[in-house]
Amino acid sequence: MDTPFTARRITENVWWVGAIDWDLRNFHGYLTSRGTTYNAYLILGSEPILVDTVRAPFYGEMIERIRSVIDPTRIRHVISCHAEMDHSGALPRLLQEITPTSVIASTPGAKALREHFHWDREVQEVKTGERLELGDRFLRFVETRMLHWPDSMFAFLEGDDVLFSNDAFGMHVAGSERFADELPDDLLRHEAAKYYGNILMPFSRLVQRLTDQLPGMGLPIQVIAPDHGPLWRRDTDRILDWYARWARRETRNKAVVIYDSMWKSTTLMARAIGEGLSLGGTKPKLMSLDGSHRSDVATEVLEAAGLLVGSPTMNGQLYPTIADAMTYLKGLRPANLLGGAFGSYGWSGEAVPQIEAILTNEMKARLPAPGVRVRYVPTDEDLATCREMGAAMSAAIHENRKDGEDR
Ligand code: FEO
Repeated sequence: MDTPFTARRITENVWWVGAIDWDLRNFHGYLTSRGTTYNAYLILGSEPILVDTVRAPFYGEMIERIRSVIDPTRIRHVISCHAEMDHSGALPRLLQEITPTSVIASTPGAKALREHFHWDREVQEVKTGERLELGDRFLRFVETRMLHWPDSMFAFLEGDDVLFSNDAFGMHVAGSERFADELPDDLLRHEAAKYYGNILMPFSRLVQRLTDQLPGMGLPIQVIAPDHGPLWRRDTDRILDWYARWARRETRNKAVVIYDSMWKSTTLMARAIGEGLSLGGTKPKLMSLDGSHRSDVATEVLEAAGLLVGSPTMNGQLYPTIADAMTYLKGLRPANLLGGAFGSYGWSGEAVPQIEAILTNEMKARLPAPGVRVRYVPTDEDLATCREMGAAMSAAIHENRKDGEDR
C-alpha cells in the first residue's frame, strides 16, 4: 500500500523521519495550540543510524518515512538522546522489528530506558567528550543533565556538522516546514520562548553554563536539529542568543497581572493596577485566568520583571484557577522576580496572604508594595490604592533593571 509519509533530506547524509502531531493541544499541562512534531533522524552510511524515535502511536508514520529512504531493518545503531516517551515511545516496537547491533544512550539514559520499558536489554553508555565510530560515520556526545531530564544528551555528527539537541532549542509547532527559515520570525520567537518558559526556565543556571561552554567544545555546528519543531540551518546564533538571554533572565520593562474573579471586584482591582503600571511607564500584561492558560502565563513571565497575582478568597483558599497557576509557576522558578498580591473577599480574606507566602517563600520574589485586600466591592479609594500598587511595582522595576534599557 502506498503511504503518504516520506522522509525529508536535511543534509547530505541526514534525513528527517519524524512524525507530525497536528492535533496535540495538551502536552503534560502545556497548551500546544499549534500541535507539535516528534523529530527522529536517519543518518545514512555503511551502518545506518537512527537518532531518537517518536511517540508510540506515531510508530507507523516514522517507519514509513524511514522506508521511503531505506529498508528499516538495515538500521545498525539507535541513539536515544532523551528517554521521555515522546522520543522513546516507539523504541520497544522498533526493536521488535529491527535488530540493530547497538542502542546508545547516556548512563542515566540507559537507566531511564530500562525503567520505562522494564527490559534487560544491553544499552551502550556514552559520556561527554566520547567519540564513536559507527561504520563510516563519527559521532560525538555531550551530556546535558537536567536539560531537562537527568538522561538528556546531545549527539554531534561530524562531517555533516549536525547537532542533535533533543528537547533543547525546540518548540511545539506542527507543520510541513522543516526549517526555521521557512517560518515567520515572530512565530519562532514566541514558540521558542513558550518552550523555554514552560520547560527549561527552572534549569536556567545549567542552560547558562551550557551556552557559555558550547562555543569552546570544538563542534563546528552548521545545523541544530531539535526533537520538536523546526531545525536551524541558518542563523544558529539566533536561537543560541535567545537561550543565553532567557537563561540570564533578561527582563523587559513589563509586569504580568494574573487574576480571576467571582463578581468582578478582583477584575476591577487588576485594571486599576494595570493603570498604575502604565502611568509609571511599565507595560502591563493583564491575563484573566478565566480563559488564559497557565502555559501562556509562563511564557509572559519569562521576560517580565514583575508578577502581580489577584485572587478572591473562596472557602478560605485561593480561587482554583489561581491555585493552579501558582503551583505551576512556582515550579518554574523565575529568578529575580518582583511580586505582589491583591484580591477581594467577603469575611476572612486568606487569599492575599497565601499568595504573598508563595511569592516570597517559594518563588523568592521581593514585594515592593503590601498586598491589597478589598471587602466585597472596591471603592474609589480602594482603586486608588490599587493604582498606587501598580505605580510602586513600576518604580521597583525601574530601580531593579540594571541595563537601563526601555525594551
Ligand atoms: Fe520532548 Fe522531554 O521530551
